[in-house]
Amino acid sequence: MTAAAAIMLCVGCTTEAPRTEALLNQSDYQTQIDGKPVDLYTLQSEGITMQVTNYGARIAGLWVPDRDGNKVDVVLGYPTIDQHLNGDGYAGPIVGRYGNRIGKGKFSLDGVEYQTTINNGENHLHGGIGGWSTHAWNVDNVGDNTITMSYLSADGEEGYPGNVIITVTYTLAGNDLILDYRATTDAPTVLNPTSHCYFNLHGDSEVSTNSHVLRINAAEYTPTDAGLIPTGEIATLEGTPLDFRTATVIGERIEEDFEALKFGAGYDHNFVLDKSTPNEAGLTEAAVVYEPANGIEMSILTDQVALQFYSGNFFDGTSIGKGDKPLCYRAGIALEAQGYPDAPNHDNFPSRVLRPGEEYTQQTIYRFATK
Ligand code: GAL
Repeated sequence: MTAAAAIMLCVGCTTEAPRTEALLNQSDYQTQIDGKPVDLYTLQSEGITMQVTNYGARIAGLWVPDRDGNKVDVVLGYPTIDQHLNGDGYAGPIVGRYGNRIGKGKFSLDGVEYQTTINNGENHLHGGIGGWSTHAWNVDNVGDNTITMSYLSADGEEGYPGNVIITVTYTLAGNDLILDYRATTDAPTVLNPTSHCYFNLHGDSEVSTNSHVLRINAAEYTPTDAGLIPTGEIATLEGTPLDFRTATVIGERIEEDFEALKFGAGYDHNFVLDKSTPNEAGLTEAAVVYEPANGIEMSILTDQVALQFYSGNFFDGTSIGKGDKPLCYRAGIALEAQGYPDAPNHDNFPSRVLRPGEEYTQQTIYRFATK
């Protein structure tokens, strides 16, 4: 189906009110991948219910209250593990080793050139063909409201140097989903892990997220070439349709005649976050997204320096997700807290190098409220 046909198809089914979804069946997620057991875990806090699988440390469902108290599943995904294996591989996982893109998959570190897998045009995306999202992670700890998973990314995997151990803990607390990352390596390497959920605050993959109102706490972005590889420039957002410092409906300017919007086929850009007012924990507010129809608001707080905002431009309605509904054109947004794309090839970007003896840490919080 062409994207245009998918838009037509999706436009016809945009009127349904948000519904309260049933939880996913654990048995539909039980299998073996990489010789390891894969399962589905259900976590609960006062406000949030989350289902997560250790396949790619993936968030499979995330139910938050709307303004009427209905629980709405605000992430896109699939009802079974088989559908995840055959569907959009980036629905909910942790992506790495290097999330986002590396130009031509090449980088030099300490004078040695490395070639990572090419899987996106002529570039490397989200850790390559066999990136972290494609593997079964170990489940190290599970509680009622928390789970810790880890993965050993071996030296040479997808072309990267060094054995890296990545650990991610998801914790639900009140209306917060807290993500804590830790990583160590036994040889110098680069990494840029991020959570890759497609959020749809309507809780309906047939209803466009163009209606969401978005604010991003960034005054600058990193312009790219047509393959979405940064040129190295750090440019002002002032006067562009990418400036979200004032809360704006996503669909309002998405079709404007602006080169960066053409390259991304919509929003698909790296925003340089304003880090000037951190809270006591060192986190700054990166973005706030709100859906007027049901009052759900999500804020993202992070210690990361950048946020990739992707407006679901590649969904074409052919992949069938939860509730037997297609993942429609622009019916999911990714808001990925991370470092800059292609940083290993730009000395003026904050470094993403990790060396033996150092520990990489990241904390990002998705905070839900209603208005
Ligand atoms: C996003 C990326 C998009 C697209 C998407 C996966 O993180 O910015 O360009 O690759 O992942 O389809």
